[in-house]
Amino acid sequence: MKTQVAIIGAGPSGLLLGQLLAKSGIANVVIEQRSPDYVLGRIRAGVLEQTAVDLLLQAGIGERMGREGLPHDGVVLCFGDQLHRVDLHALTGKRVMVYGQTEVTRDLMDARAASGQTTVYEADQVAVHDFDTAHPSVSYVKDGQRVEVQADFIAGCDGFHGVCRASVPAGAITEYEKVYPFGWLGLLADTPPVHEELIYVHHDRGFALCSQRSTTRSRYYLQCPLTDKVEAWSDQAFWDELRRRLPADTAAKLVTGPSLEKSIAPLRSFVAEPLRFGRLFLAGDAGHIVPPTGAKGLNLAASDVGYLWQGLTDFYGGSSVGIDRYSQRALARIWKAERFSWWMTSLMHNFPDNGAFGHKMQVAEMDYLFSSQSALTSLAENYVGLPLL
Ligand code: FAD
Ligand code: PHB
Repeated sequence: MKTQVAIIGAGPSGLLLGQLLAKSGIANVVIEQRSPDYVLGRIRAGVLEQTAVDLLLQAGIGERMGREGLPHDGVVLCFGDQLHRVDLHALTGKRVMVYGQTEVTRDLMDARAASGQTTVYEADQVAVHDFDTAHPSVSYVKDGQRVEVQADFIAGCDGFHGVCRASVPAGAITEYEKVYPFGWLGLLADTPPVHEELIYVHHDRGFALCSQRSTTRSRYYLQCPLTDKVEAWSDQAFWDELRRRLPADTAAKLVTGPSLEKSIAPLRSFVAEPLRFGRLFLAGDAGHIVPPTGAKGLNLAASDVGYLWQGLTDFYGGSSVGIDRYSQRALARIWKAERFSWWMTSLMHNFPDNGAFGHKMQVAEMDYLFSSQSALTSLAENYVGLPLL
């Protein structure tokens, strides 16, 4: 098989890149190790920045998002039973869109099927070759047959545990990492959200987040020890613990119901530098991870893809400036989101060895935030997302 761009991974970054390239007339093949149902079954992000929404619109998949997505003008931070609303729209003139990653992925899968570009699901033994030459290739095994795809470029959109970053020689890559000493236990339920906006809760028992997918579907998270097993958390235990972490008036409004999904995600900050190795590019979680507190992971995946799409379009138009600048441009934005996500995580969670001083610092930081217009504006600007430079 021959193509222009071989894309590894059919998560949001791989599918969005494929769709944007197809719109620009650049042929591509997406190679994914899992089935479409498995990919759609992973419940992850819920909040999109305007930049990500704009890229989805450019990819031609905004129609359902426009109808079913929920624009939010604010978010709420809760500290010591006090609710503080951050008026994102008043502070920045922008808002965020609540539209689940599952729905984004479904829309992208539908658009890809309609575009006629090749997607290979359930590909085994995916491997990338010769990306340090002008003739890279990808191989995989499907139904017992080994297939080779020759391409001009390989886009590694295969997530944190993918094969692309792992194939780069150790001496060519630097990795920066911080692993947090807790995880998030998430629960999805067909119950109306407890509040019309998201609530991020700092509580002595641990962080909690009240999020949503629609006016009838809620997504909640609880900070939990990394040693917890999801099977040991009954729905009842989850709802009881969530109620304990919410202010009494909010807890009284909580509508509970059977879970549709429950899972535990570890929290990590991670950046690989650079993001280009000859004719191999890393985009999305393959190149970086943020803890979910800032709602930045999917948004960064989208902005990486935006830069890479521009670079590849320029390349086929005769200029290699865009692909030469890809790593530097993407990393500048990534480090800003890393800082914000780390700061939000540090402010809102209970750290096991924080001690009384650490707790006082969180209280002081929160007091400062809500007494300083510039601090609040900075939070709002980062939450709604910085412009794509
Ligand atoms: P992935 O979604 O990981 O997709 C990679 C794909 O590559 C997968 O389908 C995988 O099966 C495939 N793959 C892996 N290895 C191979 C291989 N060897 N060969 C072929 N295919 C392979 N982000 C936000 O912006 N806002 C939020 O509100 C938010 N909330 C989150 C909440 C949670 C609980 C979690 C866990 C994450 C959250 N994120 C959020 C982050 C967001 O979900 C990720 O950043 C996003 O999924 C990254 O997309 P991706 O396509 O780069 O990677
Ligand atoms: C979600 O709805 O899954 C979600 C929302 C905001 C976050 C993280 C996750 O910061």
